[in-house]
Amino acid sequence: MTTTLENPSTPFSAEQARANDADRINEIAQFNAGELSTIHEMVNNADTLFTWDYSKGARPKLEKLYEKAKRSQWNAETDLDWSIEVDPTNILLPVENVPPTIEDLSGPGSPVRKWQDDDWAKFNTEVVAWRLSQFLHGEQGALVCTGKIVETVPWIDAKYYAATQVVDEARHVEVFGKYLNEKIGNTYPINPHLRLLLDDIIEDSRWDMTYLGMQIMVEGLALAAFGFMRNLTAEPLLKQLLRYVMADEARHVAFGVISLQEFYQELTAAEIRERQVFAYEAALRMRDRFLAQEVWERLGVPSKQMVEIFLALPMEKLTFQQLLFSRIVPNCRKLGLLDAADGWLRDRFTELGVIEFEHLEDTSEDYETYAAMENSQELEETASQSQQ
Ligand SMILES: [Fe+2]
Ligand SMILES: [Fe+2]
Repeated sequence: MTTTLENPSTPFSAEQARANDADRINEIAQFNAGELSTIHEMVNNADTLFTWDYSKGARPKLEKLYEKAKRSQWNAETDLDWSIEVDPTNILLPVENVPPTIEDLSGPGSPVRKWQDDDWAKFNTEVVAWRLSQFLHGEQGALVCTGKIVETVPWIDAKYYAATQVVDEARHVEVFGKYLNEKIGNTYPINPHLRLLLDDIIEDSRWDMTYLGMQIMVEGLALAAFGFMRNLTAEPLLKQLLRYVMADEARHVAFGVISLQEFYQELTAAEIRERQVFAYEAALRMRDRFLAQEVWERLGVPSKQMVEIFLALPMEKLTFQQLLFSRIVPNCRKLGLLDAADGWLRDRFTELGVIEFEHLEDTSEDYETYAAMENSQELEETASQSQQ
């Protein structure tokens, strides 16, 4: 992962300027242009580790999670009602109250200031296809990353658990792929920011970086994003699908927090700094992916101008970014990443205006709450509360 942040004396404003540089974000958005291959090849630099210590339960929290995962398997083909008919133009509920609002995006000078109701309806339909497509690609990222964790983590309890997550993620790829193909009929390629994040995770040689990138950063957001999407739709098949997926995702984040809490105890301050930089760069990529540049481009709107409009909005207007950081910041705090190594990550999150999320609940125990729920109403309420 590239970074310009090695020098702790770098003034905040320089890093802030890089984070919010519309040219940088725009350049990355061109990354996929002309990409036609269906195969994306990456080199995995990590060592594959065998362990001859088979003592199951040496790490009781991981063993408990593994046993829970074995009991919680479901079948995407038979547990969901695929006979439900779906109108792809009518999936999102009216979203006037979810910022950024139309007014936020169509002020003076905005390329969409003259858009009519029809244009915004078309935009909403595209956004659903884009969002679900990114869920799909992210799920494949999780599938590949957890396969990598099975190979690279040295602990048998973690290998066992990660193997169940591989099956979970295969099922998630399957359901989002099937829903997009059979019910939506409109897909988007992987967002370039997300693709670069997955590339960074796969390329890294250190086994714990797969956890940090995927289990903490990507999965932390996924749980919140699925809950948010579930509250924004009345479409019964999508609601059902997201409920099943969310129950799995809550375990996945717990897996990351439990494993890294132990491992980080052994690291030096310099090694922790490397994890802080990785977490920060991953957070930036995740934030930038929500700028949805491909949707604007597909609708003929210059995306760079929209990026500038988004970057100028206060955090309270950026619902998805809030969701992202409301999970990531508390989890980084629980892992000790905020204040270690001179508080470098605290400074970065302060600059981004997201440090206020640090005391929201972390997600390491969420899965127990989700597992205890007997009906979808309870799950929905909890997902809704977790966004606040
Ligand atoms: Fe997943
Ligand atoms: Fe997951």
